[in-house]
Amino acid sequence: MSKNRARDGRRTKSQAAKRDGAPRARSGEPRGFRPKPKHADRPPRAAGETPEPRTRRSGARPAETVPLILETDATDDYALVDTGDGLKLERYGSLTLVRPEQQAIWGRALPPPDWEAADAVFTGDTDEEGLGRWRFPAKPLPETWPMAFDGVPYLGRFTSFRHVGVFPEQAAHWRAMRNAIEGAERPLRVLNLFGYTGVGSLVAAAAGAHVTHVDASKKAIGWARENQAHAGLEDKPIRWICEDAMKFVAREGRRGNAYDIILLDPPAYGRGPAGEVWQLFDHLPDMLDGCRAILSDTPLMLVLTAYAIRASMFAIHETMMEAMTGFAPAGHVESGELVLRETSAGRVLSTSMFSRWTPGHA
Ligand SMILES: C[S@@+](CC[C@H](N)C(=O)[O-])C[C@H]1O[C@@H](n2cnc3c(N)ncnc32)[C@H](O)[C@@H]1O
Repeated sequence: MSKNRARDGRRTKSQAAKRDGAPRARSGEPRGFRPKPKHADRPPRAAGETPEPRTRRSGARPAETVPLILETDATDDYALVDTGDGLKLERYGSLTLVRPEQQAIWGRALPPPDWEAADAVFTGDTDEEGLGRWRFPAKPLPETWPMAFDGVPYLGRFTSFRHVGVFPEQAAHWRAMRNAIEGAERPLRVLNLFGYTGVGSLVAAAAGAHVTHVDASKKAIGWARENQAHAGLEDKPIRWICEDAMKFVAREGRRGNAYDIILLDPPAYGRGPAGEVWQLFDHLPDMLDGCRAILSDTPLMLVLTAYAIRASMFAIHETMMEAMTGFAPAGHVESGELVLRETSAGRVLSTSMFSRWTPGHA
């Protein structure tokens, strides 16, 4: 453990100031001044309202690598089997599923019988709610089924909105995080924001980290706890917190709590438990500022994934570059896309964009 860091992960003001870089943040500010995240007291911006001008950071910009394509290979636990005609055929553990896929604008590679043999088909409008949107051609299936990620068990789940309780391309980030935790040889604190069903949190905990998992949905937290029990990881130190991610980050900043690894996978639009509005395009820069402010003195990773396709990869890359400018160490930002490759014809399916800050250089 860093001798600069208190045992419980909290920092003194002088430790935080030292970490926040030698250069003054803005002229006239005392050395080590850390602005309060702007979102802390501000009501959400109304549609069409002109945004407040943002102050550019001074100091060294991180080194950068763009574009970086992170591909998740097929395993026994998951494979993207085939794609085409606006659909994808996937294998999740013991089950094969057909779901809508807007990016698959080409034709299918496998013949119809391969698709017709699927165990479950999501039939509904993707915006419509209700489990009834799933059809089970051979036999009815229970809501959950056993899955695993690199030996960490969890439950696949037929949910509304076509999701199945996991985003398999996140494997690229989870493996990098696990390697960082196992290689650190010190107790690490991991923050998983917008943590959903908690698979990333379980991977971090199984690797030995103290984990804080934040999600606005009581239902998702309930599923995450079920996954923890299913994985037999009840004895691991995971805090499950049902709260607005933005509010949580601001509060951790005020309390001086710090994390070595932060993962955030925010939706384009979401709501906190008290109706707080999350709008990716309005709130992301403040969110990254807040995350920067709660990185520990020996941070290892800040990983952002965005499934919002209105943005370009460069939009989230430059937002991360701005957020980490003047940080010490300046570090390195890599951005690109998370992709999956179908096993049928080897075509690549893009799922999301990501941006990842690490303290070292490539
Ligand atoms: C895992 S992300 C989904 C990302 C996904 N890849 C996508 O964009 O469809 C969604 C999670 O964020 C949570 N969420 C939405 N708004 C939130 C907020 N304001 N604070 C915390 N969690 C929020 C949801 O409950 C959900 O579990």
